[in-house]
Amino acid sequence: MNTGEIREDYPILRTGVIYLDNTASTLTPKQVTNAVTEYYHRYRANIHRGVYRLSQKASDKYDQSRERVASLINARPEELIFNRNTTEGINQIALALELQKGDEILTTSMEHHSNLLPWLNQKTKGVKVGYINPDSEGKLNPQDFREKISEKTKLVAVTHISNVLGNINPVEEIGEICREKNVLYLIDGAQAVPHIPVDVKKMNCDFYSFSGHKMLAPTGIGALYIKEDQLQKLKPPYTGGGAISEVTLGGYTLSSYPSSWEAGTPNISGVIGFSEAVDYLRKVGYSRIQGHEKKLTKQLLKGLGEMEDIRVYGTRDARKRACIVTFRLEGMDSDDMAGILDAREQICVRSGFHCAMPLFKNILKEKEGIRASAYIYNTREEIEKLLTVLGDYSS
Ligand SMILES: Cc1ncc(COP(=O)(O)O)c(C=O)c1O
Repeated sequence: MNTGEIREDYPILRTGVIYLDNTASTLTPKQVTNAVTEYYHRYRANIHRGVYRLSQKASDKYDQSRERVASLINARPEELIFNRNTTEGINQIALALELQKGDEILTTSMEHHSNLLPWLNQKTKGVKVGYINPDSEGKLNPQDFREKISEKTKLVAVTHISNVLGNINPVEEIGEICREKNVLYLIDGAQAVPHIPVDVKKMNCDFYSFSGHKMLAPTGIGALYIKEDQLQKLKPPYTGGGAISEVTLGGYTLSSYPSSWEAGTPNISGVIGFSEAVDYLRKVGYSRIQGHEKKLTKQLLKGLGEMEDIRVYGTRDARKRACIVTFRLEGMDSDDMAGILDAREQICVRSGFHCAMPLFKNILKEKEGIRASAYIYNTREEIEKLLTVLGDYSS
């Protein structure tokens, strides 16, 4: 499968758009939209509720989808909960942990707001939130975690790949330290699963949260890995229909996991689309995804590096990052630049603070930036067009 063939799968690309906002959300191939349409046209029914064949078929597809998505990250199907997105998964864990006054959470100052606000919310209970800072290239030092974890630390929460810097964080090393210190470990995988192979067992994590829409699936579908021993301990934060085995007027007994964590009718078509996206990515293969992204990252970093008034954030080493490149053109408002890129060449990039205000303010000492992020369907010609327009505004 080459880039030309891959591009055929995305009807939206025929409009001439140059889509470089893949960190916010990726495009969706026709294989995924066809799978979603097939559900609505051929076996549209609720799951795990009816004995009739249509419902059985929908239930089978849903259950098979869980197996396929779970195996992508080397999880067992029972350990994978479907939800709406990464944000919801992190909130589910923040609620389920039932933290108490005096407990501490250790995170980093590079987190997306979705892996920060759920922890800041715990402050009303008297929970403290501590931070590890990255260095000027955005690198995290695992030893800083060893030093900062205290007896009160209940959980370490870290992003696998920064949505601003693109850096791949040393999640395995941090995982070893968490095990050694007997501290729970949550990884925000929103930007990792789309770009690099993920093995939750190798990382020694207890929780891993990711979103379908950032890896070719429809919007509104996400997944949360919860290690089995935690599933046995934690109480799901929401409950209701589909999550119980018995109810009386005086109480209820939860069903077994994962359904105990999926109260109410789930996003059935989203789950089916998610698993189709996983199959699609498997066919392309992570080695090809990484190889392609590395080429585009090098081209982008080289081109931006040649413009003196452009400051690029994150590591310069293309092997240690995904193709998520944030930069600032001196003297130019990032929203204005993004508007010009769209108006001139239909180039879609993100501008602003990228849901990571503390990173911009405290570490990068900037208010905002422009982010270009490429994926499997982007080409060298598209990167060249971006660089050409930027070049016209750089001195
Ligand atoms: C690192 C990271 N974490 C969390 C999120 C939130 O993802 P979602 O909006 O799908 O919940 C994002 C989205 O950009 C992200 O990049």
